[in-house]
Amino acid sequence: MQVLLLQDRIDLSDQVRFLIESTFSAQVQTVPMISEGLKVVQNSQSLLDLIIVDLKQGVSGELEEFMAQAPGVAVLLCVSGGGVKGVPSPARVVGLIERTTFMESMTHAIQSLIDQGILKSNSVDLKDSPGQVRIAAKLLLSVGPLNGDIYIRLSESKFVKLFRKGDVFDLNDLEKYSIKKGVNYLYIRQEQCQEFAQKYKVELDKIFKSDRLNIEDMSLLNMSVQETVQELIRKVGFSKEVQEITRTQVQLTVKSMGKDPDLADILKKLKATEGQYISSHSTLCAYFSCAIAGQLQWGSDTTFTKLSLAAFLHDITLNNHDLAQLTSLDELERYETKFTAEEIKQFKNHPVEAAELAKRMTEVPADVDTIIRQHHEKADGKGFPRSLSHQYIAPLAVVFIIAHDLTQYTIRAGADFNASVFLGEVREKYKSNQFKKVLGCIEILTKIKELAMSMKKG
Ligand SMILES: [Fe+2]
Ligand SMILES: [Fe+2]
Repeated sequence: MQVLLLQDRIDLSDQVRFLIESTFSAQVQTVPMISEGLKVVQNSQSLLDLIIVDLKQGVSGELEEFMAQAPGVAVLLCVSGGGVKGVPSPARVVGLIERTTFMESMTHAIQSLIDQGILKSNSVDLKDSPGQVRIAAKLLLSVGPLNGDIYIRLSESKFVKLFRKGDVFDLNDLEKYSIKKGVNYLYIRQEQCQEFAQKYKVELDKIFKSDRLNIEDMSLLNMSVQETVQELIRKVGFSKEVQEITRTQVQLTVKSMGKDPDLADILKKLKATEGQYISSHSTLCAYFSCAIAGQLQWGSDTTFTKLSLAAFLHDITLNNHDLAQLTSLDELERYETKFTAEEIKQFKNHPVEAAELAKRMTEVPADVDTIIRQHHEKADGKGFPRSLSHQYIAPLAVVFIIAHDLTQYTIRAGADFNASVFLGEVREKYKSNQFKKVLGCIEILTKIKELAMSMKKG
């Protein structure tokens, strides 16, 4: 498909070009003025399939003349406020694009022309190829060309090839595209996963050696990596390469928070973290549990690694975000109708299954599987899978359980976060000794913070 984009919003045209090219496998020429568009039309009239007009001046005599030069070419006209006055040649204007929602309206309009048979798309229907693996776009693009094609998803079953095997992609374009346009995921085939994982591990090693390890950036990276590892485990299993990515990512998390992570500081930096629940709460949980351990004077690299790895893996076998937000079997029963029989089974088994994954990893400190296996046990002995009473819950699992509660409260409260409210909510259920001790350190941190704030006010 050959497209001429006539657009005077120059800051946007690069993005629009890229969006059309990647989504519809089209070739796009962009020009900012009618006079230049005229030259393109005169040179390539017979090859053009579509003209998109996005000019501030709206419809004018000059534009009408220009369109007359391209009879038979479909035109999409950009308008403001849903209407257009005096469209000169309605027969050629096959659709309107709303200016305020340009990107979305445009892809919609082009897709609709394809559906009506007015335009031809080169997209491939991969309905019968279930081997597509979803990878966070930024991660995939950071590894450079792969020995296979990269796809973008259009609908449930429709993918288009964004890059062919061995293509060198322009990272600037893609970054602009993925950040501004919000394309978060790209797809590769199952066969490419190993190559991707190996190359991505090299990337993580580079990040690890660099000094750019601030906690905000690392938490975002952790979320993308966590989601990707989750997908890889589902599609290709917990292979050696996937384990290596996991291990390196956990090392990065530990390195980014330093020797003495401060809960109040981490809360300030990360409480606004948003994203897919499973990955975002795993990330918060890693930082919170380490900050609490630090406060308890248990802050060693090994302890931080154990807690961060437990956080990374503890819900990784779940793929329903609503399911992952449940905390007990009672809650599961209450919302049972929302989930399938398979999901219910998945939830009941996830502490054990995720613990088994941790056990399979090599070069990992002991106890990580215990923390994961016990992450839904409760101080009152009513947790699962084993209904352990508090004295049988491992000390690091206690830290993790409280950090997990704090994480859930933080996500729920959002901007209304108030540590005292959290403490009020959980104090009653954490009366037993070791839970009380861990809670005490959160309390101390809150008091210090409140004191610091009152001193500032004073
Ligand atoms: Fe969780
Ligand atoms: Fe869980």
